[in-house]
Amino acid sequence: MSPRLSLALEQGGLVLPEDGRIAVFHPRLDMDLSDLPKDRVQIIQPFKPDHDGFAAQGFDCTPAAEGPYAASIICLPRAKALIRAVIHTAASCTDGPLVIDGGKTDGIDSVLKDIRKRTDIGGPVSKAHGKIFWLAAAPDMFQDWRPPETQIVDGFHTAPGVFSADGIDPASAFLVNTLPKQLGKRVADLGAGWGYLSRHLLADPKLETLDLVEADHIALDCARLNVTDPRARFHWADATRWTPDHRVDAVVMNPPFHTSRAADPGIGQAFIEAAARCLTPSGTLWMVANRHLPYETTLATRFAHVDSVASNYRFKVLRATRPSRPRR
Ligand SMILES: C[S@@+](CC[C@H](N)C(=O)[O-])C[C@H]1O[C@@H](n2cnc3c(N)ncnc32)[C@H](O)[C@@H]1O
Repeated sequence: MSPRLSLALEQGGLVLPEDGRIAVFHPRLDMDLSDLPKDRVQIIQPFKPDHDGFAAQGFDCTPAAEGPYAASIICLPRAKALIRAVIHTAASCTDGPLVIDGGKTDGIDSVLKDIRKRTDIGGPVSKAHGKIFWLAAAPDMFQDWRPPETQIVDGFHTAPGVFSADGIDPASAFLVNTLPKQLGKRVADLGAGWGYLSRHLLADPKLETLDLVEADHIALDCARLNVTDPRARFHWADATRWTPDHRVDAVVMNPPFHTSRAADPGIGQAFIEAAARCLTPSGTLWMVANRHLPYETTLATRFAHVDSVASNYRFKVLRATRPSRPRR
């Protein structure tokens, strides 16, 4: 866990209940949860790579809360817009203490300030550039932090904290304006988000199957509402590990370029590797990226032909055909 939880348990006066399940909301994979009784912990983690990482350590994991819980520990999520929604959910399914842990850069100080206005707290304990504090949860304490049942933006369902929750991403719109009308019978949308690219692709009557692959469970739930065509298949999966039943004719993607808060072109490069694995030998990858992101070298090592089909001052659309198989 964070060193703050250990300190709060050892010296800070935090007492977790002896019985009952303990929920841990949105822990990051680098967190050490060994201070907690593993057989009583349920991890709530909608991001598939982190979910699978904790499951591999033997934790009971779920993408969405399955209360009731005797206590809940909330690790402030990366997406600020999710913080209130997660605290609301945890409070509504927890009978005992609600423990809130976060770094300064996660916004712990403003959460602490907001909560102090409505109830007494235990702690805070400060350590490692962050704070942990706790409170007695009441189910209706955070009713006003409940997220709207549905949020419709630009005609699409989105949700707090998902990528581009406030509207269509301009890079994705640029890609859509560049794509030919037909891409093949079988297509995959890697990192499909709430389904913007997929809904566009389904306008092609010749398309037979479309695989939407997305790691964020909340975004994929939105995509299910936005994309109701029976040719669509939804996969809650890490795109860098996913492979289709049959290789596809085309992959379309606007890959993520951040892990945590830092820009990381490695994740986009891993998406390119995955796309090459998913495609038929004559298949084509269509991707959009910020102009400065260095994807051409990776593309050139995995595809026979690479070209830039469109660009403006912010984005470029790259097309890569004929994937090569990696050397063994
Ligand atoms: C730049 S967004 C594009 C979303 C959507 N295609 C669009 O055009 O609006 C990248 C998406 O990849 C998802 N993502 C991040 N890491 C992933 C992974 N390892 N596997 C699958 N999806 C991932 C993010 O949750 C996000 O929805």
